Amino acid sequence: MINEKIIVEQSLDLSGQVELSGAKNAVLVIIASLILTSGKSKLKNVPASKDVFHMINLLRSLGAEIFFNEQDNELEVDTTKVLRYKVAPEIMKKMRASVLVMGPLLARFGCVDLALPGGCVIGARPINYHLTNFEKMGVSVDIKGEFISARVQKLFAQKLVLEYPSVGATENLLMAAVLTEGTTKIVNAAIEPEVLDLISVLQKMGAKINVLPTSSIEVIGVNNLEPIEHAVIPDRLEAGGLLLAAAITGGEIYLPDAPVDTLDMFLFKLREMGHFVEIGDNDIGIKLRATKNPRAVSFKTCPFPGFPTDLQAPMMAAQCLASGTSVIQETVFENRLLHVRELQKMGAQINVEHNTATITGVEELYGVPVIATDIRASCALVLAGLVAKGKTVMSGVNHWRRGYEALEQKLVRLGARVALQKGDGLLAHDSVISKDKSARV
Ligand code: UD1
Repeated sequence: MINEKIIVEQSLDLSGQVELSGAKNAVLVIIASLILTSGKSKLKNVPASKDVFHMINLLRSLGAEIFFNEQDNELEVDTTKVLRYKVAPEIMKKMRASVLVMGPLLARFGCVDLALPGGCVIGARPINYHLTNFEKMGVSVDIKGEFISARVQKLFAQKLVLEYPSVGATENLLMAAVLTEGTTKIVNAAIEPEVLDLISVLQKMGAKINVLPTSSIEVIGVNNLEPIEHAVIPDRLEAGGLLLAAAITGGEIYLPDAPVDTLDMFLFKLREMGHFVEIGDNDIGIKLRATKNPRAVSFKTCPFPGFPTDLQAPMMAAQCLASGTSVIQETVFENRLLHVRELQKMGAQINVEHNTATITGVEELYGVPVIATDIRASCALVLAGLVAKGKTVMSGVNHWRRGYEALEQKLVRLGARVALQKGDGLLAHDSVISKDKSARV
């Protein structure tokens, strides 16, 4: 797959209706959480993106029996035979989310052996908040080079204070705490919608969890958790990418199942740019009609409900052609501006100082060969390619496939000229690049 490329040609006025896939960041941790139960669980709305297959392989390597009906996005996971607690380094390296099996394995077996996780190169991404708080719960952690070995006889309920509301640390600690006798409290916890989806899964299993004001989570330990059935929440990050696709190309889009309350800050910024955004009943469903003269807006990324770091790169692509100057500050990850260099190659005017990018809107972008360095950068470059003159040829397609379920096909149905090119030069979506308009409004 190394030679795969995505080819994007200018495609103005994208329009239509799109159903969202399930949230990748929710489903990864939810699959990991099934280790807490013994038996068969069923998940619906599971996106067939590469990271999901990585997590499936990880659980299989521990002994789980898994059947994925990709067509219907249904996943059956039988954890009865999960008897191993050692994760091979080559599996760990596939993605950062592999570390999320640590909490459930500690809760189920009191032991886990794994290597430091891999993932996108968006920063140092240490796991110190995970490890120091496991230690606080009584776990002894031994690190040799890149190998981590953790052991505990009995986990102890504690008040755990996170220096920063880390999504992964919150999730890992929650999963360790649900079977721990007594009351665990996680202070300064992450309350991203994906964390809340995990909490509703754990509650369905029988866990006792309360989300308290000022971002604390209280977990009252129970003795046993049961298998569940659950439909994963729609992907707010895919929604963000699609809304921007319509916004940047001057089009119109309707996302009937988009969860509005997960995107408030992002929608606020789209409106500030001048785009027309309508909200459906009960805060479900978003319609966007693009302004032809978008204004540049500034923002900084923050934990939820602030502007999501995962939409920073895609939103930057939209600022490149907006009128005026945008200042974007990335506060969550220290190395998440690698897409700037690629957007500059396309003609964008961007200056970077430390974690801040200043973008001055230009009249045009140009299609050139670009390289995606992480999942969300790949989305930004495809978006820029939709309005760039000429052909944008993006490599690093692996990132795109890790994070999105065939998003290129959804874009094609909106009228985009986007195709996946295999190493041999064949276009995977050759038949659809000639504008399948069936989904257009
Ligand atoms: C998750 C998401 C990712 C998103 C990020 C922030 C998944 C699979 N991935 O990643 O898409 O961009 O949340 O919303 O859900 N940190 C430490 N020590 C730690 C843990 C984190 O210093 O032990 C730092 C990180 O380096 C980063 C910040 O805290 O600077 C936030 O990271 P975190 O919220 O943990 O992100 P992930 O859970 O890895």
